[in-house]
Amino acid sequence: MPTVFIKTYGCQMNERDSEAVAAQLAERGYSLAASAQTADVVLLNTCSVRDLAEQKAIGKMTELAAKNRKTKGNAIFGYLGCMAQSRGAQLVQDQPDVRLVLGTQKFHRAADYLDELVQGRQRSIVDTEEEVGSQNTIKEHLTTLGGKTQITSFVSIMQGCNQYCTFCIVPYTRGQERSRPIAEIVEEVRRQVVNGAREVTLLGQIVNSYAKRELPFIDGKSPFVQLLEAVSAVEGIERVRFTSPHPKGYGDDLVEAYARLPKLCQSAHIPVQSGSNRILKLMHRGYTTERFLELVGKLRAARPDIGLTTDIIVGFPGETEEDFDQTLTLAREVRFDNAYMFKYSPRRDTPAAAMEGQLSDEVKEDRLARLLNVINTIGAERYETCVGRRMEILVEGPSKRNPLTWSGRTRCNKIVVFDGSNRHLGQLMDVDITRNGSFTLYGDPAILNGD
Ligand code: SAH
Ligand code: F3S
Repeated sequence: MPTVFIKTYGCQMNERDSEAVAAQLAERGYSLAASAQTADVVLLNTCSVRDLAEQKAIGKMTELAAKNRKTKGNAIFGYLGCMAQSRGAQLVQDQPDVRLVLGTQKFHRAADYLDELVQGRQRSIVDTEEEVGSQNTIKEHLTTLGGKTQITSFVSIMQGCNQYCTFCIVPYTRGQERSRPIAEIVEEVRRQVVNGAREVTLLGQIVNSYAKRELPFIDGKSPFVQLLEAVSAVEGIERVRFTSPHPKGYGDDLVEAYARLPKLCQSAHIPVQSGSNRILKLMHRGYTTERFLELVGKLRAARPDIGLTTDIIVGFPGETEEDFDQTLTLAREVRFDNAYMFKYSPRRDTPAAAMEGQLSDEVKEDRLARLLNVINTIGAERYETCVGRRMEILVEGPSKRNPLTWSGRTRCNKIVVFDGSNRHLGQLMDVDITRNGSFTLYGDPAILNGD
């Protein structure tokens, strides 16, 4: 049987989609190749959120296809995901080596289509149709097929987004919000526990909008909070997280859940995008900075040690120095633990791309550097406050940067590196934090009384 290599660009949702495709292909008898060069099938799961992400995938495809031609290989190349969805058949026209283009609602067809291509029944296949129920198809994990244990498991609970932020391409590439039933999500989490998971992260583009049209509030609790309760009740799961929420989906029921559900980790990634109300309105974000700050206050009242991270865009069309200053002010006021910061990138067919006042790259670059400075300084201070403390971590495996050391994450979502070994894998353990690196903590396993 052929071997397959899948490379993923972009967010955790994309990583999860790629895993589901890999599991589907493994079930069909494909084995996973160690590198793109040695694979019979190479799939790039793409991201469209910024132009740079698209250019990276296109560049990679060009490079791999050229190598394949040079060595007279006959690998099959395909694009999956967001860029496949938005560019469709154009991708095959532009890059004739590409033989499969699979949109965001068609991941579950990958094996069938590859069979067609491998057996030479078709030259190329493009499928970017919408499909009712496609949100229910992202459920298989590689662990079920003997893959590596995932201490922390990612579970996709919904697809799509209806918010239509004016800068964002996601509603066009991922379609309308569609949610999976609570029972199916819980069942998937149970299966993952059997396979060794101790933590679950619930994934969606706008995760706290979960099932808001399909399911009713019960006892003042939104469907998302009902889901958090159901997942928390799964025996064997020690920690529950979710990403990415939207500030406006943070009702009091969700804030209250942080204080009430012991497994729900005290960490939240809440994209704010800008500190200027004028820009937030142009972005169609649906909240003001005052509302955002109020939410931060409530979350910190519920869990004083909550870790807060965010996304910020600089250089949105029409952003003045004064608007940008307000973003800096907000960042200083909230004191985020960390942030993902982006230069605004015009995306085709989004309203912001046609707005007046597009800014030059120099202006965006300058603002990004200034924001980075503020975020990094405050982040370092926030990490520094952990030094000297004893914190609980869940050990995830060898550290990515230095595989001789091990790493885990605190409940507030900070990485801690320590001297560990295989016997620590999957353990919840206390560590004494000794030092702060760059957005990484270092610690020693705590010697507990009576040990
Ligand atoms: N809710 C989604 C958001 C997807 S995009 C999620 O799961 O993360 C992730 C981040 O990319 C956004 O929060 C935003 O800060 C940034 N982004 C989206 N579109 C962008 C654009 N056109 N230019 C620059 N950054 C963008
Ligand atoms: Fe994009 Fe806004 Fe939805 S950032 S994913 S349109 S909440």
